[in-house]
Amino acid sequence: MKRKTSLSSLLSTVTILSSVQLALGGTTLGRTPQMGWNSWNAFKATVNYTVVQEVIESFDSLGLKKAGYDYVLLDDGWSSFNRTADGYLQANATSFPSGIEALAKEVHAKGLKLGLYGDSGHYTCAWRPGSWGYEERDAQTFASWGVDYLKYDNCGGFQSMTEAPQVRFGAMKNALALSGRDIFYSVCEWGYQFPWHWGGDIGHSYRISGDITTSFANETACQCKTAYCLNTGYAGCSVLTIINKMKEISQYQTQGHWLDMDMLEVGNANFTLHQQQTHFAFWAALKSPLIIGADLSKLSNDSLAVLTNKAVIALNQDALAEPVIYRQAFSEEGLFQVWTGKVEGGYVVLLLNEKSYSQHISLAFSNLGLGTPKKVVELWSGQNLRDSIKFNETLESYQTLVFKVQT
Ligand SMILES: *[C@@H]1O[C@H](CO)[C@@H](O)[C@H](O)[C@H]1NC(C)=O
Ligand SMILES: *[C@@H]1O[C@H](CO)[C@@H](O)[C@H](O)[C@H]1NC(C)=O
Ligand SMILES: *[C@@H]1O[C@H](CO)[C@@H](O)[C@H](O)[C@H]1NC(C)=O
Ligand SMILES: *[C@@H]1O[C@H](CO)[C@@H](O)[C@H](O)[C@H]1NC(C)=O
Ligand SMILES: *[C@@H]1O[C@H](CO)[C@@H](O)[C@H](O)[C@H]1NC(C)=O
Ligand SMILES: *[C@@H]1O[C@H](CO)[C@@H](O)[C@H](O)[C@H]1NC(C)=O
Ligand SMILES: *[C@@H]1O[C@H](CO)[C@@H](O)[C@H](O)[C@H]1NC(C)=O
Repeated sequence: MKRKTSLSSLLSTVTILSSVQLALGGTTLGRTPQMGWNSWNAFKATVNYTVVQEVIESFDSLGLKKAGYDYVLLDDGWSSFNRTADGYLQANATSFPSGIEALAKEVHAKGLKLGLYGDSGHYTCAWRPGSWGYEERDAQTFASWGVDYLKYDNCGGFQSMTEAPQVRFGAMKNALALSGRDIFYSVCEWGYQFPWHWGGDIGHSYRISGDITTSFANETACQCKTAYCLNTGYAGCSVLTIINKMKEISQYQTQGHWLDMDMLEVGNANFTLHQQQTHFAFWAALKSPLIIGADLSKLSNDSLAVLTNKAVIALNQDALAEPVIYRQAFSEEGLFQVWTGKVEGGYVVLLLNEKSYSQHISLAFSNLGLGTPKKVVELWSGQNLRDSIKFNETLESYQTLVFKVQT
């Protein structure tokens, strides 16, 4: 009798342990970089239900869902400035009159997933309540509402700079694991203390830099221009600065724990078509999350074509999950860049003219050490190159050509 009791209690302990383990790391979230839309770049902290409802409709009408985008993400500003009297997070009742649970149902009914934003400090960056000290309660609230994704930020005053990011972000990781719901965890601590060396244990993705801006090449505002500088900034990084940072760290890209180059400015900024293509091609081939940051009601046809390019998205979602790597020996520092990486069926080559003027560039694919090229397609034009051995042509200002090489 006694033995039987202890056996059954042993069995239930085993069951509990294995479900905790499953929640802590055994899920299938993040097998490819996440794709979706986030409110911050276009709406900052003014996001509201009307905006989100239009976004949900646009996922269908613009073909975004069909292209693979499935997360609808509310950034800072969704919540009230105050917790409820008994200490729970609540939506801003003016901006989201029906609350988050109803919104989650609506999003799910469309076959999409809903994400919220929170912060590891006392406050969020826009001074809403942070989750420091409330991690388990808030994770349970998110789970009870049917939330599928949490972006977790690094603002919040005192605690954010005195408690190690591993502690602050780890506390929410554990809380989410105990919440009973599979919630994607997007760590946003701006690259502080080099999370590519530890973030893989914590998040499904983790930011590597301060916030992106609508600038393509102006580096002035970004405090950290290299991956290993001492982090003293949280915003103002141009597209080119973020690409350059990845030269040092793209090799740390890991399936299920993606380095996050930040939300896209395609369709937001005043970028040329070539700048938009460069931005999107690098985010895709470097296996960054692809999170659209534009006001979808104002998206031009050109921007939409960039964001829904099937062949380029396929690089991002490729089953090998290998990022491209900077090939210094084939590049000219400050002039043009060559990046390569394996994909199913061959490899991909990105060739970037990083100057504001056009340049004639030649590159022999056969010298890259990645196998004998049989056929080369440039993915933006969709055209096969006549010469699969070498490329020798002019690239326009800030243009990136993306070659898929069959071996
Ligand atoms: C929601 O936000 C949009 C964009 O900022 C604004 O135009 C609209 O008036 C807002 N709607 C409500 C109901 O607040
Ligand atoms: C709700 O949002 C509005 C508009 O952003 C803001 O003025 C108001 O203070 C917020 N209310 C609460 C209770 O947070
Ligand atoms: C709501 O939060 C604000 C900002 O943190 C604070 O100043 C205010 O006292 C709070 N109001 C209530 C009713 O708790
Ligand atoms: C670059 O950015 C800085 C800081 O935001 C700004 O002061 C400067 O005017 C910008 N330069 C150009 C050429 O746009
Ligand atoms: C957009 O870019 C063009 C060309 O670079 C420039 O002349 C214009 O001033 C920019 N507009 C804005 C609003 O930044
Ligand atoms: C954008 O594409 C749509 C559908 O193909 C077309 O009806 C519309 O005229 C285009 N708009 C512009 C500004 O080219
Ligand atoms: C590349 O093209 C330029 C101009 O079209 C030509 O002068 C040069 O010989 C070519 N180089 C190679 C290696 O084919």
